[in-house]
Amino acid sequence: MRIVAPSVLSADFAILGKEIEMLNSSEAEWIHLDIMDGVFVPNISFGFPVIKSIAKLSKKFLDAHLMIVDPDRYTERFADAGAKCITVHYEACRHLHRSVQNIKNLGIKAGVSVNPHTPVSVLEEIITYTDLILIMSVNPGFGGQAFIETSVSKIEKLRKMADVSNPSLLIQVDGGVTEDNAGILFNAGADILVAGNSVFGSKDPVKAIHNILNSK
Ligand code: DX5
Ligand code: ZN
Repeated sequence: MRIVAPSVLSADFAILGKEIEMLNSSEAEWIHLDIMDGVFVPNISFGFPVIKSIAKLSKKFLDAHLMIVDPDRYTERFADAGAKCITVHYEACRHLHRSVQNIKNLGIKAGVSVNPHTPVSVLEEIITYTDLILIMSVNPGFGGQAFIETSVSKIEKLRKMADVSNPSLLIQVDGGVTEDNAGILFNAGADILVAGNSVFGSKDPVKAIHNILNSK
């Protein structure tokens, strides 16, 4: 599967409506929402009112990436705001299995994300319970950072694990994705590529999305 999920973190929030309309007219199937609390990551992004406004305008599948501590406190509110997939961090959950079940009980997809330093081997038990695993290919907190090359072998390893334990697992990659590395990532086993700067920093974001999707 090949899906591009532009991250609105890199959008111009003064014209957010126009940015969402642009995404509606593009080949992007998902929209990625980066939620940061200033505790789990050294940055603060946006919350419920912004997501609700995006949900009203968007025709796309809304994917919330929670870079927050203790995400269980807020998952229901993110679902109410319009998120159709909620991803929590392995590093932020004391009882990850419970967090995943809580999200699934809301009737939406559940994802688990791992930071660059976290090996995919720690996902061995949770992989059968989760719909999606997000491999962070930068340290979370900011858009526009350089892709960490060792992420490619993590995708390959995870795809092998999924072939055995959960063949329908969606593998998402987030951070430093460009038209130049997208083909390598899809070929390594990624299904969904998040792209912030390479979409919104482009002169023609609709074309950038097309190019990422079709990159060899
Ligand atoms: C980083 C976020 C990413 C980020 C991606 O903490 O999770 O989703 O917005 O931005 P780019 O594609 O610019 O690296
Ligand atoms: Zn993200």
